Amino acid sequence: MARRKIVAGNWKMNKTPSEAVALVEELKPLVVSDDVDVVFCVPAIDIIPVAEAVKGTNIEVGAENMYFEEKGAYTGEISPAMLVDAGVKYVVLGHSERREYFAETNETVNKKVLKAFEHGITPIMCCGESLEQREQGVTMDFIRQQVKVGLQNVTADQAKTMVIAYEPIWAIGTGKTATTEQAQEVCAGIRACIAEVYDDATAEAIRIQYGGSVNAATAPELFAQADIDGGLVGGAALKPDFGKIVNYK
Ligand code: PGA
Repeated sequence: MARRKIVAGNWKMNKTPSEAVALVEELKPLVVSDDVDVVFCVPAIDIIPVAEAVKGTNIEVGAENMYFEEKGAYTGEISPAMLVDAGVKYVVLGHSERREYFAETNETVNKKVLKAFEHGITPIMCCGESLEQREQGVTMDFIRQQVKVGLQNVTADQAKTMVIAYEPIWAIGTGKTATTEQAQEVCAGIRACIAEVYDDATAEAIRIQYGGSVNAATAPELFAQADIDGGLVGGAALKPDFGKIVNYK
């Protein structure tokens, strides 16, 4: 069975609550699609107004992070139950910016992935190499480790429902998209890794996105690749271009 494409916007630390609602109103008619899942991953404070604004549309709401404890003395953190109650269906976990600036590790990402599943939230687990790692020829070794540790104790049935986003760090926000061949090669490598850890059926079911300077011009070729099931989109998710990316065909 063909995998359904999924295009998610990662708004990062952009848009106040009122700006967020205005952007949703602008994008709503542009992202209508019958065959692509559309997700807006927004700052925590925007989740409630955005969830309200997307009611009755094909847009699902995602968070950009989440903590791995249920509740308690974790000042400043947000629990999975809070996200679920606010209408969140997806959560971006282990984005390279969180790994770099907020000390996230493969181990904390794994805890968050497990916790998201416990609460019925679909993880979009990010992985990706730095430029230095690519030049040293260790891209796939590094990513395999991120994926394997991130998925520890995740069952095959859970893995089948999740999303992995391959985002080469050197391509994020730089305007430097990986070539189609580079993106397809790593996404195929991730799928092979899933087949090793689980089985072919799980590898066939899991959805793998490419992310890193995706725009309306590059999306059609990227998303046509055998192992690329859509995109995680940063900068272009804040513009009408996002509609063109969703309707890339
Ligand atoms: P970008 O961001 O599309 O602006 O490169 C992608 C991401 O970081 O998810």
